[in-house]
Amino acid sequence: MHVLGELHRGDKPRAYAELESSLRALLSGEPDMVACAANMAALLFWSLPQLNWAGFYLVEPRSGDLVLGPFQGKPACVRIAVGKGVCGTAAARRETIVVADVHAFPGHIACDSASNSELVVPILDGDRLLGVLDLDSPVHARFDDADARGLEALVKVFVDATRHSGTLPG
Ligand code: SME
Repeated sequence: MHVLGELHRGDKPRAYAELESSLRALLSGEPDMVACAANMAALLFWSLPQLNWAGFYLVEPRSGDLVLGPFQGKPACVRIAVGKGVCGTAAARRETIVVADVHAFPGHIACDSASNSELVVPILDGDRLLGVLDLDSPVHARFDDADARGLEALVKVFVDATRHSGTLPG
């Protein structure tokens, strides 16, 4: 199921455009955020090569913390304060963070010792922070700018699909 053809040819934008169509179809007609997040995590984990974790941390309205949501991979830390780790830093800055070597990132939270690089995209509905999408890889410098832009586009599809969900936090 990997979109390997395009990726092997170095055509990441094309691979992400293909994934965007698949995600739109997968989420269409179902606004429940947990269901959409679960299917999106599975689609990414099984489509993109060289991942050991793909999933969501969602804002808990009461505390403002990021709390573990649907994911694929090994069990992970449950709660991350905004500002902590790669996830909390992306949430605080409200910008995508690409980390080539997680061991060199101050405050990185190690969930799976196999992880060496990481990409975190904040999930924003307008000004409102809903959570983050987190991808981990055992390969150093697995993610580049094309991955960041591609995953940001996929997060937009997710936000649009779940916008009218009664399960959105806040
Ligand atoms: N490494 C992340 C924590 C989440 S796990 O990678 C699944 C971080 O530093 O925020």
